[in-house]
Amino acid sequence: MLESYSRSWTEIDYDAIEHNVREIQRLVGKTKIMGIVKANAYGHGDVECTKALKKAGVDFFGVSSVDEALNLRYAGIKDPILILGYTPEEHFHYLIEENLIQSLVSLEYAYKLDAYANTQKTKIRCHCKVDTGMCRTGIIYQEQEKNMDAILEEYRLSHLSVEGIFSHFPVSDDLQEDSVSFTKKQIELFQEVCSQLVQAGIQPGIKHIQNSYGILNYGDLGMDYCRPGLLYMGVTSDDSIPIASDPDFIPILSWYANVSLVKWIQKGQTVSYGRHFCAQKPTKVATISVGYADGLHRLVSNQGLCVLIHGKRCPIIGNVCMDQCMVDVTAVDEVKEGDVAVLIGRQEDQEVRVDEISRIAKTINNETLSNIASRVPRLRKRGS
Ligand SMILES: Cc1ncc(COP(=O)(O)O)c(C=O)c1O
Repeated sequence: MLESYSRSWTEIDYDAIEHNVREIQRLVGKTKIMGIVKANAYGHGDVECTKALKKAGVDFFGVSSVDEALNLRYAGIKDPILILGYTPEEHFHYLIEENLIQSLVSLEYAYKLDAYANTQKTKIRCHCKVDTGMCRTGIIYQEQEKNMDAILEEYRLSHLSVEGIFSHFPVSDDLQEDSVSFTKKQIELFQEVCSQLVQAGIQPGIKHIQNSYGILNYGDLGMDYCRPGLLYMGVTSDDSIPIASDPDFIPILSWYANVSLVKWIQKGQTVSYGRHFCAQKPTKVATISVGYADGLHRLVSNQGLCVLIHGKRCPIIGNVCMDQCMVDVTAVDEVKEGDVAVLIGRQEDQEVRVDEISRIAKTINNETLSNIASRVPRLRKRGS
C-alpha cells in the first residue's frame, strides 16, 4: 500500500474500534453488539471494520443489502449477517447459498420468501421487523394500529426460521420530553409484542432495538443485541446534541489533502467560480486537492470552514470546485506545495472535527462521512 496519496486520502485507526466497542459495552451492560457496517461502514471500509469489530468481540453484523452481505462473505466473514433492508426476489437464492438473515419488511414479503424457500425445500433465516414508530419497514405495531396477527403469522410460516425480532428509533437522539416519551412508548410496544409472542407459545428469538443514540440515551434496556453504526466509529451524528451519558469515544477517521500551489493575490482579486471571495488585502492562498467529487460538500464554500495546515486553522475561501478548493493561508508562514491539509483530524495541538463540516453543510456526520467518495483512498493508520 502507498504511504500517502497525491490528492486526498483518509486514514483510519481500526485499532481504536476496540476502545469504542468497550465504551458501548459499558453503556449497554450484557446486551451484545451487532456491528452495523452498511454503506461500506459509512465510508470507513466494511471488511476492515468488520474484522476490527470481530477482534473486539463483536459476533453479529448488519448491512443494508444482499450485495453488502456478499462483500463480507467473499472477504471470508462467516459470522451471522442480518440484511436490514429489502432483498429482491431474484436475489433470494443468495440468502440460502450464503447463509444470510433477511429482515421481513412486510407480511406480504414474508409470504414470498416462504414460498421461495418451499420451492428450494429449505428454510430461510429471518428477523421479524416491527414498526413501532419509524413508519419505514416492518409490520406496524403502534397505538393507532396493532397488527399482532400479522406478526404471529410470520413466525408460523413453515419455511421461514424467524430467529429474531427488531424495531428502530426515529428520535432516540432527542432528549426533549415529547421525543423521550415517544421512544419509551416504542420500547413498551416492542416489549408488548415480545410478551404476546411468548404467550402464544412462540420464542421471539434475539431482540434488538437500539441504534447509537438509543445506546447513548437509553443505556441497558435488557435486549439481546444493540445495533450501533456511527458510535464504534467514535462519533455521534451531531456533537451539539446533548446526550444522557458520558462516553469517551475516539474518532477513527482522519481526512487529508495535499497543497498543490501557494500564491499571493492582491486586494480586489477574486477566488473560484462565482467570484464569491474577494480579497480585502494582499492574501496568501493555498490550493488544496480536494473538492465536492471527493465528498466535501459544496455547501461549505466560503462559509468559514477551516482546514489545518501546519497546525493552523485556514478558512476555505470561494466556491469548492469538483477536485480542488482554496484556503486562506496568510497566517501560515511556512506553507508550501506538498504540505498536508487536514479536513478532519488532528495536527499539532489543533483538531477539526467532522461536526464542523456537517454543521456548515446543514447535515449530520453520518452523511458527511458516508459521502466521502470512493476515489478517496482509505489508508490504515500506521500501527492499527
Ligand atoms: C435499522 C438500523 N439499525 C441501526 C442503524 C445504526 O444507526 P447508527 O449509526 O445511528 O447507530 C441503522 C442506521 O441507519 C439502521 O437503519
